[in-house]
Amino acid sequence: MLTLKCNYHTWPFSAIAELIDNAYDPDVRAKQFWVDWTRIKGLDCLSFMDNGEGMTRARLYKMLSFGYSDKKAVKDHVPVGIYGNGFKSGSMRLGKDAIVFTKTRDSMSIGLLSQSYLQAVKAQQIMVPILTFRRDGQNLAEDAASLEAILTHSLFSTEKELFSELRAIGAAGPTGTRIIVWKLRTTLSGETEFDFAADKYDIHIRASGSERSRERRAMSPESDWSLRVSAHAWRCLSDCNLGPGGGGGFVCTS
Ligand SMILES: Nc1ncnc2c1ncn2[C@@H]1O[C@H](COP(=O)(O)OP(=O)(O)OP(=O)(O)O)[C@@H](O)[C@H]1O
Ligand SMILES: [Mg+2]
Repeated sequence: MLTLKCNYHTWPFSAIAELIDNAYDPDVRAKQFWVDWTRIKGLDCLSFMDNGEGMTRARLYKMLSFGYSDKKAVKDHVPVGIYGNGFKSGSMRLGKDAIVFTKTRDSMSIGLLSQSYLQAVKAQQIMVPILTFRRDGQNLAEDAASLEAILTHSLFSTEKELFSELRAIGAAGPTGTRIIVWKLRTTLSGETEFDFAADKYDIHIRASGSERSRERRAMSPESDWSLRVSAHAWRCLSDCNLGPGGGGGFVCTS
């Protein structure tokens, strides 16, 4: 099912747009959004961070599950998200595994959406380990199994490493969300589809025009919905000044 979802987006930018839309929507109202490349334990990762409202454990659970969305317009700020699928389809289009770190005023939570984990444990259904800490650092006793799953199957093998990612949100604001995606999708020639080395201040999409159209032909057609979101994100990116030099804009090189 996760593999199926990731084929909603043939164009990687529309997958990223899903994450930007979520941060912009009226339930989150992030003022800033960062897109970055980072290497963790030798693996290329994409990280996305916002200084929005963050999520309680219950909301994080809904985020990692399919088909829940209860967004409402606030004044004239109409939500882009309505289907309850964007995060799953977007993140799983970019890579095989994703971890979400989120902070509200009262709690800090971590959730894992990982195809590698599901394959490793031969899961018959989608399982999403979730951990919640109070802001004083105490984790809940019933989270022991989730903690073990996250430490075994994510890039972070100690609680200390998890806390350092939660602390990173503090640089963005008192509340917010940080998403790290790894095992990034590769092109037909085996390189990551993003080129992180070409430009110090930017992330380029590596695939050549002919390669992209070959990949497009091999995948299911993109829905109108993805294209709509994509158009919105272009606007949002220029509003947020995330273009070249602005800290992680995207440029198509072909
Ligand atoms: N960055 C974020 N900060 C806080 N909450 C978030 C964030 N991203 C997602 N969420 C929560 O997770 C839920 C699921 O997100 P998802 O993108 O999968 O669906 P949606 O935005 O509700 O609908 P759509 O499929 O149309 O995008 C959202 O409704 C929102 O409550
Ligand atoms: Mg969404």
